[in-house]
Amino acid sequence: MPSLFSEFRLKDIALKNRIAVSPMCQYSAQDGVPETWHLVHLGGRAVGGASLVIAEATAVSPEGRISPGDTGLWNDAQAQAWAPIAAFVKRYAVPGIQIAHAGRKASANRPWEGDDHIPADDPRAWQTIGPSPLAFGANLPRAPREMTKDDIARVRGDFVSAAKRALNAGFEWLELHFAHGYLAQSFFSPIANRRTDEYGGSFENRSRFLTETVAAVRKVWPERYPLTARLGVSDFNDESQPLEESIELIRRFKTLGLDLIDVSIGFNTPDVRGVPWGPAFMAPIAERVRREVDLPTAVGWLINEPAQADAIVRDGQADLIMLAHAELSDPHWPYRAAKSLGIAKPQDALPPQYAHWLKGR
Ligand SMILES: Cc1cc2nc3c(=O)[nH]c(=O)nc-3n(C[C@H](O)[C@H](O)[C@H](O)COP(=O)(O)O)c2cc1C
Repeated sequence: MPSLFSEFRLKDIALKNRIAVSPMCQYSAQDGVPETWHLVHLGGRAVGGASLVIAEATAVSPEGRISPGDTGLWNDAQAQAWAPIAAFVKRYAVPGIQIAHAGRKASANRPWEGDDHIPADDPRAWQTIGPSPLAFGANLPRAPREMTKDDIARVRGDFVSAAKRALNAGFEWLELHFAHGYLAQSFFSPIANRRTDEYGGSFENRSRFLTETVAAVRKVWPERYPLTARLGVSDFNDESQPLEESIELIRRFKTLGLDLIDVSIGFNTPDVRGVPWGPAFMAPIAERVRREVDLPTAVGWLINEPAQADAIVRDGQADLIMLAHAELSDPHWPYRAAKSLGIAKPQDALPPQYAHWLKGR
């Protein structure tokens, strides 16, 4: 049995294989409410054989959306709209969701409509917030308002409320979005955080918003379900936090009850020249995190080939493979992987409505 198709158990959750659909914003919601598109997008990938399908970065508050089309979990109408989507995904896979606050990268146009900050005088724009009044730069030039301690407490509370709503909507796997230059990541990053109070400066202080959020969410997210986070462990840039700091932070998350870390990139700066792009380039970094922290680990980025994904799991570099582009190009990627890895009945990666007809093909 290829390692990619071995079962993975975490808390009370059993994943039938190691293939997960990485969260992918669809920029297709109205007032944060997911719609039929989200059902088809997520449901289709659950049908396609992934064991875990994580719904997109879903904002914990209106100002935490990347774009006006982001999904949300700041009200009950949104949670009610998520419920049938989570229920459908659960027929075939474990339904997960990523909850997020976009911080200084919020108030932007959809990627295919410019991917830039909505001009401040456009009625669709809103005031962004961040640890310090520093703009990201490039396509996102507007500086956020520096958050007060009340803002920090409120957003932490928004993460807690969103986690409760995610649970009520039927999600069984929660991922905190602490990556990609969004709010939590920007608190940890010396590039984005220049505060002089207890939320900035030292490693301890830059970690505080993230550790407090993990601790607060753990209190409301049941022990039986995995609580996970996606952290940008490096920007591959000298101004970024060193990888050792990220590893120490993940150790603290583990002490606070985090069950898995999804290892990703910081994206705190438009200057991404140092990123060693190449097939599965994050896998050796994930391996180091997994070994040094001794915590279940997920990894993505340019993993497209089944043999490569299988080797990452077999070699103990990561427990779970997160796929984005590969799943966009082929929602039945797990079936194709089962075939190419020589699984006896590859069609069984799919439900009987499809598997029956694909026998022997
Ligand atoms: C359309 C699209 C939307 C994305 N949205 C999110 C998101 O909501 N949250 C997140 O953490 N990453 C997001 N990402 C990044 C992916 O989850 C993934 O980490 C990245 O694409 C690298 O994996 P890949 O090489 O398999 O595509 C998105 C990527 C794509 C292509």
